[in-house]
Order: sequence, then C-alpha cells, then structure tokens
Amino acid sequence: MENVQGLQVRNMDKKTREQAIEELSLMLMYLTRFQDDNEFCRYMETSWKGYDFDALNELEKKDLIYQPKKSKCVYLSEEGKVKARELLAEYHISDKDILEKFEFRNIRPEEAEQAVAIEQICFPPNEACSEKNMKERIAVATELFLVAVDRETGKLAGFLNGLSTDEYSFRDEFFVNADLHNPEGKNIMLLGLDVLPEYRRQGLARELVFQYLRREREKDRRRVILTCLKSKVKMYRKLGFTDHGISDSTWGGEEWHEMSQVIGIG
Ligand SMILES: CC(C)(COP(=O)(O)OP(=O)(O)OC[C@H]1O[C@@H](n2cnc3c(N)ncnc32)[C@H](O)[C@@H]1OP(=O)(O)O)[C@@H](O)C(=O)NCCC(=O)NCCS
Repeated sequence: MENVQGLQVRNMDKKTREQAIEELSLMLMYLTRFQDDNEFCRYMETSWKGYDFDALNELEKKDLIYQPKKSKCVYLSEEGKVKARELLAEYHISDKDILEKFEFRNIRPEEAEQAVAIEQICFPPNEACSEKNMKERIAVATELFLVAVDRETGKLAGFLNGLSTDEYSFRDEFFVNADLHNPEGKNIMLLGLDVLPEYRRQGLARELVFQYLRREREKDRRRVILTCLKSKVKMYRKLGFTDHGISDSTWGGEEWHEMSQVIGIG
C-alpha cells in the first residue's frame, strides 16, 4: 500500500507548477459549479472565474472551459467536465456527483420491461403509458429515451422520453401512437419523466431534463413541449419551461397544463 501510495505521489510530483495550477483550478471550478439560469446558457454549468488568468486561458485553449467577455463566470464544456472527473480520480478526490452514481444514456431494447415497470410505479393507471405503447415507443424512438442507470445495480433509476415532430402543440395522440415520431422533427413532445421513489429528491429529474435538453439542442431541435398537472408546473418552471395555461389534453380524465421551452433556432 505504501509503495502504491508512494508511486502515486511520485507521479503527481512530476507535474509542473503550471500544470498543477491548471488542473487544480479545473477541479475547483468543477466541484463548485452551479447551473446558471441564463436564457442562453441554461443547461451549461458555470463557476466563478477567480483563478489564475494564465491557467484559465490555457484551459480555454483546450476547450475545457469558455470565458464569456465581461463576465465573472466561466462555463465548463462537456470535455471540461469529463477531464475534471478524470483528474479527481487521479488525485483521489471523491466526487459525490450524480454523474458518479448514475450513467446517462439511450435506452437499450432489453430495458423495455424495466421502463414499463417504472412507469406503472410512477403514474396512476389512468395516466401511465401502457406496456404496448411503451414498447412501441422504445422500438421506434430509442434515441429519444434518456435513462439514468444506477452504476451499483446496473438497473434503471429513472428516465425521460419523448417523440420528435414538426408539430408545435401537444395532442394526446402522441401518447398512444409512436408512428407520429418523425426522427427529423424539429420539436420534441415529452411524454414522461419518471424517477423511482427511492431515487427521488437527489436532483435526478433535474439532471435528466438538462442532459436531454442539451442533447436535443445539439441535434438542432427547436422546442420541447410537455403537459403536466398543476402540481408540477412550478417544478418545470424551475427547469426552464414556460407555462401556457390549460392544454387541450384530456389524458386520463385530468386537467393538464401545456408548457414549453425553446432550446434552439434549428
Ligand atoms: C416528479 C419527479 C420526476 C421528480 O423527480 P426527482 O428526481 O425527485 O426531482 P429532483 O430531485 O431532480 O427535483 C427537481 C426539482 O423539482 C422539484 N420537485 C421534485 N419532486 C417534486 C414533486 N413531486 N412535486 C413538485 N416539485 C417537485 C424539486 O423541488 C426540485 O427543485 P429544487 O432543486 O429547487 O428543490 C418524481 O417525483 C416522479 O417520478 N414522480 C412521479 C412521476 C411524475 O410526476 N413525473 C412528472 C410529471 S410528467
């Protein structure tokens, strides 16, 4: 053990002073990052920029961070976050981050049963997507499912799913007809956000939504539309959605609010 630790220390000693400042700055920015509620950078994670200017410039040259002019903040790129996590592991710093606990990725066909079961747990029978509809949706729009997998158990902890379309307004047909999916569609109709009870209130839904929006923005989508019960309007507002009032949806015999968020100009 001593040998192993000694070796690690020697390896770390080989870093130059500049390299260490750069790496430590990136790790600190990562560990103290927060989500900015700025309409242009809503799903980017940001940090205060009170670090060595040369180190910041070097990190920006490597596309690990972005420094907007006249701002006290820097934004971390996806590569920057990956690099920071690698460095934390290298420096033996524990990162209790949600990304350490969960893997976020597309659903796999063999996970359809789990998604069906989670949907039945998360929603009452009049609102839940049926097994048939869920399986059809997974088959035709796999790339529009984002799942959070518990790294310890390998099982789904939650997921977010939708269909893409060029339509602008929600209609209940999207819940039951996966053939409405148009892979090239500029808009997304979100059809369900599910987090298993034992994983709730840890920020998992927030992370699913932000990762989903970032991913779809990169595919040049324009707008994300959803319906939700009044009790969830505040939650979706916090996640950047605008409430358009009562929707035409009569799904499950409930009254639904239609909400949307512009994510790009496509
Ligand atoms: C709603 C649900 C997805 C939230 O998942 P979660 O992982 O616990 O949510 P997060 O921890 O990421 O919380 C995100 C924000 O939403 C708020 N929120 C979480 N659960 C909420 C709930 N049941 N009602 C209202 N707001 C809620 C949180 O306060 C949090 O805001 P904060 O960070 O400012 O406190 C989860 O409870 C669930 O699956 N419920 C059943 C299905 C459902 O209602 N889905 C949403 C409607 S489509």
